Amino acid sequence: MSKIKMTTPLVELDGDEMTRVLWKEIKSTLIEPYVDLKTEYYDLGLVEREKTQDQVTVDAANAIKKYGVGVKCATITPNAQRMTEYNLSKMWKSPNGTVRGILDGTVFRTPILVDGIRPIVSCWQKPITIARHAYGDVYAGVEAYVPEGGKVTLKLPDGSEKTVFEFKGPGIVQGIHNTDRSIASFARSCFNYALDRKTDLWFSTKDTISKIYDHRFKDIFAEIFEQEYRAKFEAAGIEYFYTLIDDAVARVMRSKGGFIWACKNYDGDVMSDMLATAFGSLAMMTSVLVSPDGCFEYEAAHGTVTRHYYKHLKGEETSTNSVATIFAWTGALAKRGQLDNLPELTAFAEKLEKATLDTIESGVMTKDLVSLFRKEGVTPQAVDSFGFLKAIASRL
Ligand SMILES: NC(=O)c1ccc[n+]([C@@H]2O[C@H](COP(=O)([O-])OP(=O)(O)OC[C@H]3O[C@@H](n4cnc5c(N)ncnc54)[C@H](O)[C@@H]3O)[C@@H](O)[C@H]2O)c1
Repeated sequence: MSKIKMTTPLVELDGDEMTRVLWKEIKSTLIEPYVDLKTEYYDLGLVEREKTQDQVTVDAANAIKKYGVGVKCATITPNAQRMTEYNLSKMWKSPNGTVRGILDGTVFRTPILVDGIRPIVSCWQKPITIARHAYGDVYAGVEAYVPEGGKVTLKLPDGSEKTVFEFKGPGIVQGIHNTDRSIASFARSCFNYALDRKTDLWFSTKDTISKIYDHRFKDIFAEIFEQEYRAKFEAAGIEYFYTLIDDAVARVMRSKGGFIWACKNYDGDVMSDMLATAFGSLAMMTSVLVSPDGCFEYEAAHGTVTRHYYKHLKGEETSTNSVATIFAWTGALAKRGQLDNLPELTAFAEKLEKATLDTIESGVMTKDLVSLFRKEGVTPQAVDSFGFLKAIASRL
């Protein structure tokens, strides 16, 4: 059987620990036998980031900008313990943060649904994708404790002042910001992704209370939608819908799913964890970074699964769930196929996704899913990390 040819390289960002082990295995077992894989490889493992003083991360992000599509393995974000473990010269920044900064993108997280793992919310039939604005607000806030009381003011560049509060005793204050530019990028990434997925887009803030700050988000979204996207949405048969965050929460809980929910930074942080848990497991959640100019970086939403890696190093058996990492590869290959007009490549990606889901639905899965799985007539059977990949390969 001849392998499927690729025309443009996929930017491959390798990573750390257990996910690095699985990365190699996924490629050799599930992809390379069928696809003449063309990648531009960047090793974002912590050893190489240290060796290149993190230049490799910057180069990888620029390569995604050049070619348009990347696939990333989970990576360690160093903390004090990792400084010692890897003998680092510096506490390197999160690679995700660096790539996001260069691509100026928004992260979209979507649960992977399988028959046998029911969401906790029984009416959800389709995935709900969260789009989280990853810039500003409380994450870049300035805070102070006011121990003695007194008047706190906000001084603006035009020289005017606004009173925040006149404290009669001790209290706390916080200053937060966002920029029109970042909000506009967020809006365009959301509209582009909704068109790409042919899925309705919801956006929610608390504009009734925050009449300038949150209202600015609402206005920028509305303006960009009218000027650049309304006609495209109508042609694609999808909708853009703005509502107050309280109303959005109530509607989400009663919905069937099947839409993208764009949230401000804090709302997205909280709601994405709620959705991941309610849909089943972090190991069954895909994540894609979409830039406002249409570049895509696919990855799993989980980390490097350190605990399993230490077991693996000791020669012990692990049962690490590789579904989200497989879906990062299929997402990226399908996108490459779509951009390069290679329907065979896109069809292969769909086949691999189906083989993965069919494997679980037939009862073969990693340990983390066994306790969640309920399907009449099927008794779940836990396999090890590599056994799971072999079971998928047997269906290709
Ligand atoms: N996107 C990324 O690159 C990313 C995201 C989060 C954490 N990290 C890094 O990963 C490392 C470990 O962090 P962590 O432990 O907080 O997060 P983690 O996602 O690796 O693990 C969290 C918990 O979920 C379980 N888990 C996660 N994915 C699993 C899978 N595929 N199969 C089975 N169980 C799974 C783990 O065993 C652990 O109990 C850290 O160094 C952190 O910096 C990277």
